[in-house]
Amino acid sequence: MLLLDGKKLADELKSEIKTETESFMAAGGRKPHLAAILVGNDGGSLTYVGHKVKACEQVGFKSTLLHFEDSISEEQLLNEVKKLNDDEEVTGFIVQLPLPKHINADRVIMAIDPRKDVDGFHPVNVGKVTLGLPAYVSATPLGITKILERYGVETAGKHCVVIGRSNIVGRPMSILLSGQSATGNATVTVCHSRTKNLREITMQADIIIAALGKPEFLTADMVKEGVVIIDVGTTRVTDSTAKAGWRLKGDVKFEEVSKKCAAITPVPGGVGPMTVVSLLLNTLKAAKHEVQ
Ligand code: GUN
Repeated sequence: MLLLDGKKLADELKSEIKTETESFMAAGGRKPHLAAILVGNDGGSLTYVGHKVKACEQVGFKSTLLHFEDSISEEQLLNEVKKLNDDEEVTGFIVQLPLPKHINADRVIMAIDPRKDVDGFHPVNVGKVTLGLPAYVSATPLGITKILERYGVETAGKHCVVIGRSNIVGRPMSILLSGQSATGNATVTVCHSRTKNLREITMQADIIIAALGKPEFLTADMVKEGVVIIDVGTTRVTDSTAKAGWRLKGDVKFEEVSKKCAAITPVPGGVGPMTVVSLLLNTLKAAKHEVQ
């Protein structure tokens, strides 16, 4: 079994991004600057945004964190988005999700200038990705394609089963895997909460992307020998033996499933670090004006 080490790969890519950023700036390019809007104090979001800010420092980007109270109104938030759209100092920015219930996240995402949408959530970027045009691919699916590419996992002609149809992961992942690219050309089945006979489908999978958000959902009896598994799950599960009182669990029962796998990502240390690096890749792309 090959462990698809996202942490190690993320470190390699960060070092490549740092070198590329240095030559870009030496040639007169402006220092990439990523801004992040965070609303409220959700533990997961605080951690993720913290990782993103730290990663910017590691590769020589500037970063700005704009942290607002839960009570911010939608109108105020839209105004903050507009300010970042207009700020020539800011290369790209993200609005960390989820947002409080009184704010319409779709409206906020649609207010982002697609040229600064380094999360790739704006419909213009989603549409371009669907058409195979140059665009910002959302960070988690982009990170997964990098894992497949760098570890030489062949996707062409393979049956990929994506479990989960979220706008952030499952849906874009299914589009990328079926598209015409080095990490595409697969036959893709998208499964979700209304899928019947899920096990029958997962048993036929050469590659499984588990992105449904249910800890340890995928068990050994659901997969065939030699499968490649990408585990996107990151649920905090209460655990009194852990220092924090919780432990991060993936969507895959790693202990038993890994024994049948040709390759698998761990949680933590798999997809998570690659998501952060993908955001850096998109920010550098924005600095170079590669997406118009
Ligand atoms: N919430 C969960 N994943 C993400 C992500 O990739 N970007 C943002 N902005 N919010 C998220």
